[in-house]
Amino acid sequence: MNYRHIYHAGNFADVAKHVGLVYCLEALRRKDGAFFVLDSHGGRGFYDLQSPEAHKSGEAERGVQRLIADAFDDAALSGYFAAIGARRGKHLVRYPGSPALIAGGLRTQDRALFVELMPAEARAAEREIESPGRVRTEIADGYAALKAYLPPDERRGLVLIDPPYESLDELKLMLRAFADAYRRWPTGVFLLWYPIRGSTQRSLVHARFEALRIPKMLFADLAIHPDDAGLGLAGSGLMLVNPPFGAEEHLREAYTAIHASLADAGAGYVEVARLTPERMAQ
Ligand SMILES: C[S@@+](CC[C@H](N)C(=O)[O-])C[C@H]1O[C@@H](n2cnc3c(N)ncnc32)[C@H](O)[C@@H]1O
Repeated sequence: MNYRHIYHAGNFADVAKHVGLVYCLEALRRKDGAFFVLDSHGGRGFYDLQSPEAHKSGEAERGVQRLIADAFDDAALSGYFAAIGARRGKHLVRYPGSPALIAGGLRTQDRALFVELMPAEARAAEREIESPGRVRTEIADGYAALKAYLPPDERRGLVLIDPPYESLDELKLMLRAFADAYRRWPTGVFLLWYPIRGSTQRSLVHARFEALRIPKMLFADLAIHPDDAGLGLAGSGLMLVNPPFGAEEHLREAYTAIHASLADAGAGYVEVARLTPERMAQ
C-alpha cells in the first residue's frame, strides 16, 4: 500500500468529510445515553501541516487554510472550526484526523475504537490522542473490525468508513463490508466517504448504494474542480445512513460555503439529497 494521508490532510475532501463527522458527533451528544464510534480506516491523530509532504502537495493550503481565511464567520462552519482548533486569521499548524475529532467529541460515558492497518499510523494515533471518553486503537483490517465489533453494547453510535480507494475494487469491498455492518447494526449512523472523479462515475457510485436497498440514505456531494480536470479528484462524496435530524440542511449550507471559498472559478457543484426513502417498498 502506497497511500499516505499526510499529503492530503486538510484538503477540501477532508474538510467536507469532517464537517459531516463533527455534525453527527454533535447530534449524538444531544442525548445523555452513552454512544460508541467505530472508525474503520482511522489514520493518525494529527497531521503536521508544516511537514515537507504537506508543503509539497499544497492541499491543506488550498483547502482548510484558505477556508479559515475566507469563511471563518460562516455559521454553518462554526462547529467544524471549533473542533479543528481554527483561530481567526491564523494558519493551522496541525490538522486533526478523524480519530482526534472523534476523541474530542466524546464524553466520559462514550467509547471509540480506531482501526488502522499501517502500524506507524496506528501508533501515532495511540500516542497523540486524548479524550474524556474511553478510546482504543487497533492495528488491523478495518473491514474485519466491522464484523468483529458490531453491534456494540451501547445501542447508539456512529461508524465511519473512509478507505484510501487505491485499488480498483475498493468500492466493491467497502459496499460489501457496509452492507454486512448495516445488517448487524441497522440503527447505527453510518458515514461512508467516496471520491468523485466525474459525473458518470458519481452516478455509478450512487446506483451501487441504491442497489443495496437500504432506507434513509442521504448523499452529500461537493465538487470543486471540473470533471475533466485531470486532477484525480473532482469532488468529495459522503453517504450518510440514518442521518441525524437537520443533517441535510446543515450540509447543504456548509458545503455551499466551502464551494464558494475553494472551487475553481465557475466549476463544481453542491448536491445534498435523499438517495433512498424512509422505508423501502417490499
Ligand atoms: C483516507 S485515510 C483515513 C483518513 C482518516 N479517516 C481521517 O478522516 O482523518 C485511509 C487510511 O486507511 C488506512 N488503511 C488502508 N487500508 C486499510 C485497511 N484495510 N484497514 C484499515 N486501515 C486501512 C491507510 O493507512 C490510511 O491511513
